[in-house]
Amino acid sequence: MEIILEKAGTYAEAFTTPDEPLLKEIEAFTMENHPQSHMISGHLQGQLLSQISSMIRPERILEIGTFVGYSALCLAKGLRPDGVLHTIELREADAQTARAYFDRSPYKERICIHTGDALTVMEQLKENWDLVFIDADKINYTRYYEAVFPFVKKGGWIIADNVLFHGEVLKTPLKGKNAKAIDQFNRHILADNRVEHVMLTVRDGLMIIRKK
Ligand SMILES: C[S@@+](CC[C@H](N)C(=O)[O-])C[C@H]1O[C@@H](n2cnc3c(N)ncnc32)[C@H](O)[C@@H]1O
Repeated sequence: MEIILEKAGTYAEAFTTPDEPLLKEIEAFTMENHPQSHMISGHLQGQLLSQISSMIRPERILEIGTFVGYSALCLAKGLRPDGVLHTIELREADAQTARAYFDRSPYKERICIHTGDALTVMEQLKENWDLVFIDADKINYTRYYEAVFPFVKKGGWIIADNVLFHGEVLKTPLKGKNAKAIDQFNRHILADNRVEHVMLTVRDGLMIIRKK
């Protein structure tokens, strides 16, 4: 389902800071070669993540779902000089691709990639987060949110991607386990009085959540 007019998206991209060469290369290579290239955040959302991160100036960022490293590099742009971004990817092949891109970036020393299941890896990370980006398997969004919540600093932020799930959440009745899980996640956030939040209709939908 087309949820954002293609023309509007193209126009918005034209009036958005162009990606730097490494990000352009990652997106182009992924679009051409990765069977799940649609998973990459891409130019418009990537620049938005960079802007948000630059506003927050985080010391500690957690990303759940690295894929090939595109969004991690966008988020890393806002890190404080002594800041670190941890990112978790289940699939070894994608983690390897991401690691190779991180090594070529200015954030080589400040991005720490973990391979494995996010819930298991998260248990081992003894950090308190300024910013968390949830972008792994949709079925587990609420679990990721609840698992990470105690470790988000007061006033810290959680961003969740794909909260419109290709428009599937707009249909009644809801079909498919992913659309149902995302809808359940959105309702969970709505009912959570520990946070304030806004849903942006950018790309596939972004939920921006601030812990009170
Ligand atoms: C939508 S992609 C992430 C895209 C990336 N954040 C970006 O914007 O460029 C989701 C990624 O989460 C990973 N993933 C899925 N289940 C996971 C799990 N249980 N633990 C960690 N990563 C997982 C997938 O392998 C996939 O690479």
